[in-house]
Amino acid sequence: MKTYRRASGARWLSALALAAFVFMAGAAGAAQPQDRAEVCKGCHEAYFDSYSETIHAKKGHPRAPANAGACEACHGDATAHIQAGGGRGVGNLRTFSKKTGSEERSGVCLTCHSSNRHLAFWDSGRHRKNNVACNDCHQLHGAPGPGSTIALRSPNPSIAPYETTLRKLEYETCISCHRNIRGQLLKPSHHPIIEGRVTCSDCHNPHGALTQAMLKQESIPSSVRAATPRNAARSCGNTHR
Ligand code: HEC
Ligand code: HEC
Ligand code: HEC
Ligand code: HEC
Ligand code: HEC
Ligand code: HEC
Repeated sequence: MKTYRRASGARWLSALALAAFVFMAGAAGAAQPQDRAEVCKGCHEAYFDSYSETIHAKKGHPRAPANAGACEACHGDATAHIQAGGGRGVGNLRTFSKKTGSEERSGVCLTCHSSNRHLAFWDSGRHRKNNVACNDCHQLHGAPGPGSTIALRSPNPSIAPYETTLRKLEYETCISCHRNIRGQLLKPSHHPIIEGRVTCSDCHNPHGALTQAMLKQESIPSSVRAATPRNAARSCGNTHR
């Protein structure tokens, strides 16, 4: 009984806090930005929950969206959206759909990630130059896989029913666009990519590199050679043939 009463008391209190907050947000429009995520949650619970599981929601990271407006760090100022009671197209929020240009979509992410060493050659990489944006590969509200809190996109079903290996999802993201590579993966003499022992990013930097074919280095990494049948690893040029 005691436990029950305490829990319902807490619920009542947080409901009160939320109501007071919504009132303040409406009246002054100048409340603590991170608390706004709670307002969004009232109407977008699934998006709130998926965001909450990512590193972006962790206040322990000083530079995380959690400390920079939460949802609004990516979607833009939602004051008008909230005041009008929400709705599609209401308040002119950024949705990251294809209608939003790739430079604008990636630009939001790069305000925080441009100093990441993996992204040092993003500007000169083939992806940016061909209008591929960050969220064409990263799914900010997706169910995350092992090793990261932010999911990679995998729009198509798996081409081989291997059991969940750690990084399997990565190649699925890549071959959704690189259809020619998809066929090559099933040839008898291949790098064990669908088996999950080698990933595309063992050899390529999807975030751009100055080298031919955005390769990380000129020769095959020893980790890859060790996991690959001899005849498939013979030379770089043979890789996808
Ligand atoms: C780090 C950036 C980022 C943060 C933070 C973020 N989102 Fe998103 N959101 C996206 C992206 C990118 C998409 C487009 C879908 C995708 O790529 O996963 C999206 C999609 C959405 C959509 C669907 C839009 C549509 O076109 O229907 C809603 C609703 C949404 N987010 C709400 C929220 C809410 C609520 C929060 C906070 C609790 C939040 N987002 C936090 C980046 C973000
Ligand atoms: C009172 C309810 C309500 C609140 C509060 C609310 N939204 Fe929405 N929002 C909606 C509805 C309804 C839609 C239309 C959804 C649809 O059609 O699928 C929407 C759409 C969106 C979209 C897609 C926009 C578009 O133009 O297509 C985004 C992004 C979004 N909301 C983010 C947020 C964020 C971030 C917050 C908090 C700062 C928030 N919303 C607060 C109800 C709300
Ligand atoms: C307000 C700053 C901010 C914005 C905006 C932002 N991020 Fe992040 N992101 C961070 C921080 C901080 C981390 C954790 C430390 C790190 O990896 O740099 C992080 C981590 C990540 C990670 C690694 C996740 C993991 O679990 O290891 C990915 C992937 C990522 N962000 C992608 C994106 C994408 C894509 C966008 C744009 C849609 C974006 N971020 C927008 C601050 C931001
Ligand atoms: C072509 C697909 C693709 C695109 C486009 C892409 N990424 Fe990634 N990203 C990946 C993959 C795959 C990984 C995991 C790579 C690995 O583990 O080596 C990753 C990892 C990351 C990480 C974690 C790296 C770390 O420090 O551990 C961050 C942060 C990130 N991406 C941010 C971004 C941002 C920001 C953009 C846009 C400017 C972007 N990504 C565009 C595929 C992509
Ligand atoms: C063992 C290292 C290695 C792995 C793993 C690897 N690649 Fe490659 N890839 C290369 C090399 C080397 C080249 C350049 C070969 C050439 O120019 O013929 C290349 C070329 C490419 C090209 C440009 C030429 C073409 O065939 O279109 C694309 C796109 C590509 N790789 C995508 C991928 C994708 C997607 C994956 C994961 C499914 C992957 N690669 C896995 C080494 C690798
Ligand atoms: C949204 C579509 C899309 C996704 C997803 C995607 N790519 Fe690409 N990629 C492209 C486009 C478009 C180009 C430029 C045209 C081309 O060279 O095929 C490109 C170019 C490349 C190149 C350079 C090829 C060359 O000839 O220089 C490599 C390597 C590559 N991608 C690897 C990857 C890897 C690895 C992944 C997964 C982590 C991936 N791509 C995911 C669309 C995509």
